[in-house]
Amino acid sequence: MNQLQKEIIKLKEDKNAIILAHNYQKKEIQEIADFSGDSLELCIEASKIHKPIVVFCGVDFMAETANILNPDKKILIPDKEAECPMAHMLTLKELKKAKREHPDAAVVLYVNTLAEAKAEADILCTSANAVQVVESLKEDKILFGPDKNLAWYVSQHTDKEIIPVPEDGHCYVHKMFTTEQVKKLKKEHPNAEVLIHPECDPEVQKLADRILSTGGMLRRVGESPNQDFIIGTEVDMTTRIKMEFPDKNPIPLFKEAICEPMKLHTLPKVKKSLLNEEYVVKVPYNIAKRARKAVERMLELSA
Ligand code: 13P
Ligand code: SF4
Repeated sequence: MNQLQKEIIKLKEDKNAIILAHNYQKKEIQEIADFSGDSLELCIEASKIHKPIVVFCGVDFMAETANILNPDKKILIPDKEAECPMAHMLTLKELKKAKREHPDAAVVLYVNTLAEAKAEADILCTSANAVQVVESLKEDKILFGPDKNLAWYVSQHTDKEIIPVPEDGHCYVHKMFTTEQVKKLKKEHPNAEVLIHPECDPEVQKLADRILSTGGMLRRVGESPNQDFIIGTEVDMTTRIKMEFPDKNPIPLFKEAICEPMKLHTLPKVKKSLLNEEYVVKVPYNIAKRARKAVERMLELSA
């Protein structure tokens, strides 16, 4: 640990705070985090928090979900510009329109959504549990948003009708992956296992050995007898894997697949966040109250 990291750990203890980090955070942030995980694991962790202050090193929707689950706690984000562009692709207006057009459909939303959209959902899901969530519902028709590729992945594993909303919701990072990249790396590393995130295009998903959330990838690398893994998600997932399993060889599918909003959090900003108790993420009471039902319904399935 460097000096700044030590100062942050001390400050965190003085403030009785906890630091949560998404798997895409840089190594120096992972090292000071109390917990790192995928979106579902972070949600579950957030539902068990006992400390009054949480510093969330992730994007806006993750910090908002932590606030929805913990209205009485102070949820801080070190850089308030850390917004997930995909979450902003589904507007409340578009969701309400889709609901009017499909009154018999259940609404399943990816956690990567704005709180006001969450408030309109029957249940949330993440990439780790999307199929399980959809299968748990009695409705045969599902409005699913905002990620069209995750919607496609779910449609391959259920007989239910999956209607993507909006029509082209996507993650700009996972859009960078191509089938050519996978084929090239497979040639260079013939024994490598190909792990692909379901936010990737269907053509890329079809070349995967396994389609997994980032937490699922981490578990798979630990369990697999293989040494080499082609990792089809944000580039720092390989950093996270290497930290956990130094003897394994995670190979990024594309080194430039960087989620810029996630990388806005730096050690000096985390320190400032703790010192000044900034920036507070607060979902308005009425929205949070309605959104909480959809989050908790998802968490009940994961219990
Ligand atoms: P998971 O970590 O839940 O797989 O999600 C990846 C992602 O893109 C988060 O926004
Ligand atoms: Fe959003 Fe994509 Fe970044 Fe995940 S990787 S936070 S979906 S932009």
